[in-house]
Parts: sequence; structure tokens; C-alpha cells
Amino acid sequence: MILEGIVTSTNEDGTPNIAPMGPVVDRGVTRLELRPFKTSKTFENLARTHQGVFHVTDDVEMLARAAIGCWDRRPDTLPCSAVSGWVLTDVCRWLAFRVVDLDSSGDRCRLECEIVDQGRFRDFFGFNRAKHAVLEAAILATRIGILAPEQIREELQRLESPVRKTAGDQEQRAFDLVKQFIASRIQT
Ligand SMILES: Cc1cc2nc3c(=O)[nH]c(=O)nc-3n(C[C@H](O)[C@H](O)[C@H](O)COP(=O)(O)O)c2cc1C
Repeated sequence: MILEGIVTSTNEDGTPNIAPMGPVVDRGVTRLELRPFKTSKTFENLARTHQGVFHVTDDVEMLARAAIGCWDRRPDTLPCSAVSGWVLTDVCRWLAFRVVDLDSSGDRCRLECEIVDQGRFRDFFGFNRAKHAVLEAAILATRIGILAPEQIREELQRLESPVRKTAGDQEQRAFDLVKQFIASRIQT
């Protein structure tokens, strides 16, 4: 199954790159199979350093901001002791990993990763329809140029209802940001 979360990898200048990624995991999350596009910064960094940190979070505003590259302020990070990398501190759970196998023969690469350390900061909030809607909207934002504009518009409109009915401030802000981003990039 796929677990949507956030990967930090290390740029050449030592700073963290923060990107949403959905690795294939087993139910106990004992290993990760990351499948980044070859064109992504995450792939470039992981192919060079072979290490990073995966984060499980319910903060969909952080996830949405990472997807569209729009920060009001950069999230707090701590250096990771198990790998040369960065742990986001406002998350539920983090897993430091090393890439043990890399297959870059397809458009989407396959990076088999072993978990070398992990920790927890807080409990997961729980199910919320607006959080899931923001997650889907953030995925749509990263599919501009891949999906037809009409499909993106229709799916986004469908996601409005659960946000209107169930969002808190964070989810509403995140959805509005993603909506603005999409509107500015696809023709009306
Ligand atoms: C929830 C979610 C999951 C994603 N999963 C993946 C993934 O598994 N592989 C991938 O290449 N992109 C994935 N994306 C899209 C990337 O996050 C997006 O292309 C991003 O710009 C890559 O950032 P980077 O170039 O800094 O690595 C996902 C986006 C979201 C919102």
C-alpha cells in the first residue's frame, strides 16, 4: 500500500529539500519503496546521498505548501543523527532511511530503502474529510501539465464540498492556497 508523507533530502549546499512523496510500504512500515520522478530534486539528492528522512504527518498545510513550493516560513528542522539529513519537527512520526537499491530505468525511479532510525513527536489527528481533500488537491497541483485542465478543474470542484463541511483553519488555508496555485497555472 501507499503511505503519503513528506521526504526531506539534502541539497548540494547542505540545506533540506522538502517534498511530498508516497512510498510503497508494508502495513508495519518496516521498509520504503520510493518512486520519485527522475526530474525531481528528491531523486537528484537521493541518487547522490543515498539517505533521507520520511515523515508521517496530518499537517496538510505543510504538505500542500511543500507540493506547490510556497512557504510563509520554512518548517523547523533538526539534524538527524542516524543519517546525514533533516527531521521536520512538526510532524507525527519520522523514519530515517538509507537507499539500498536504486533502479532508474523507467520515468519513475524505484528506490528501495531500509529504515535505520525512527521517532515520534505527536499523535495523528485522525480522519478528517477536508484533510484528505487537501491531499488530493495537492496531488492535482503537482499533475498540472500531465492531466487535462478540465479534469483538474472538475476534481478540484468536487473537493470543495468536504472542505466546506469539515475543514478547520489549517485545512481551509491549505485548500485556498492550492486552488489559487492551480488557477494561476491553468487556462480558464
Ligand atoms: C501527496 C503527494 C504524494 C506525491 N507522491 C509522489 C511520488 O511518489 N513520486 C513523485 O515523483 N512525486 C510525488 N508527488 C509530487 C511531488 O511532490 C512534486 O512533483 C514535487 O514538486 C517534487 O519536489 P522535488 O522536485 O523538490 O523533489 C506527490 C505529491 C503529493 C501532494
